[in-house]
Amino acid sequence: MDRRMLVAGNWKMYTTSGEGAVLIQDIAQLVEEQWDDVEVAVCPPFTGLKAASTVIELDRLRISLGAQDVHWEAEGAFTGAIAPRMLTELRCDYVIVGHSERREFFGDTNETVNKKVRATFDAGMVPIMCCGESLDVREGLGTEAFVRTQVTEGAGGLTAEEAARLVIAYEPIWAIGTGRTPTPEAANDVCRAIRATIGAMYGPPAAMAVRVLYGGSVKPENASMFFSEPDIDGALVGGAALKAGSFADIVKAAR
Ligand code: PGA
Repeated sequence: MDRRMLVAGNWKMYTTSGEGAVLIQDIAQLVEEQWDDVEVAVCPPFTGLKAASTVIELDRLRISLGAQDVHWEAEGAFTGAIAPRMLTELRCDYVIVGHSERREFFGDTNETVNKKVRATFDAGMVPIMCCGESLDVREGLGTEAFVRTQVTEGAGGLTAEEAARLVIAYEPIWAIGTGRTPTPEAANDVCRAIRATIGAMYGPPAAMAVRVLYGGSVKPENASMFFSEPDIDGALVGGAALKAGSFADIVKAAR
């Protein structure tokens, strides 16, 4: 089965809405010819979503839009939180759910990740559900057992059709923003285990269709090594997504 490669930029807490609008236009110019082969997505901070959405619409860009988090309730007294329909109003396609920084600094657990995954699908968007181990886990319990639990608990309660549309990003915490990465083979092993977990939960068609991304210090210099692995369907890119040139080079590597 052909899974369309996805390269998604996680802009974290870096861009103002004005900076983000310029960055999208710069990216669009550089990746124009790649659009048919690779899906490109950008995930600005909440305050940048409206400007990003407007640029994408007015310039008719084939760039998908994602948010970096969402609350699972439709509305309510949750000061500072953002509801799913606030994101669909801005034409978001994706929501990053359960990034390790949300887990570490904002208390996300597998249980709340699962609620956010559910709410994202219910609103008509697709979750990019993140998983990945710390160095302690890697040396102790082991990466695959840990990640399998994250996937089982985070992606529980879906239909097989939803599981097939899900995106899962495998991001070893020790590789995020550090310049260190697993070998492409080691990353592929974990991505294969993630796919197998989805297969055990939802059947072989879902396993074949689910897109599994690698994330953690993806750069133009190493991207093609990860992309040539059979179970890696793209990348979630942090630091290198903030410069149009390096992000576009990663997109080109995904062709
Ligand atoms: P990085 O971040 O590419 O800067 O390592 C990846 C991420 O956190 O999604």
